[in-house]
Amino acid sequence: KTVFVLNGPNLNLLGTREPQIYGAHTLADVEALCHQACERHGLGLVFRQSNHEGELVDWIHEAGRLHGQGALAGLVLNAGAYTHTSVALLDAVKGTGVPLVELHISNVHARESFRHHSYLSAAARAVLCGFGVQGYALAIDGVAQW
Ligand code: DQA
Repeated sequence: KTVFVLNGPNLNLLGTREPQIYGAHTLADVEALCHQACERHGLGLVFRQSNHEGELVDWIHEAGRLHGQGALAGLVLNAGAYTHTSVALLDAVKGTGVPLVELHISNVHARESFRHHSYLSAAARAVLCGFGVQGYALAIDGVAQW
């Protein structure tokens, strides 16, 4: 089976973006970490990032087709700021029925109040935040148990 790891807006800036919050690791580091985690569990990996909401919707649909074929282990989604704004991403998850891990590098609940609400949580099977980029590996470890 395959794990989809999708990253939303500004996550391409990891490493230089507010390092006191998101750490010094780059998105390429995160991808390498995900590859290692998937290899440990014998899972395939699709790892992508987009700054465009519609592109993320399309990719969730793609994960949904894999899910329909019984070939998706799970979707790990760090939707970035779209977490707090996007009904479209929520509808894509609901509409495809993909098993979702909502992931955040930072502990969003310890930050500004506008980050406390997530449109995605209601459709998520699991929510993980605050473990830094290590959370990606933890999410994949969790998905491997599903
Ligand atoms: C984030 C938290 C969001 O509030 C923020 O907009 C991001 C990153 C995180 O990984 O901690 O872009 O999803």
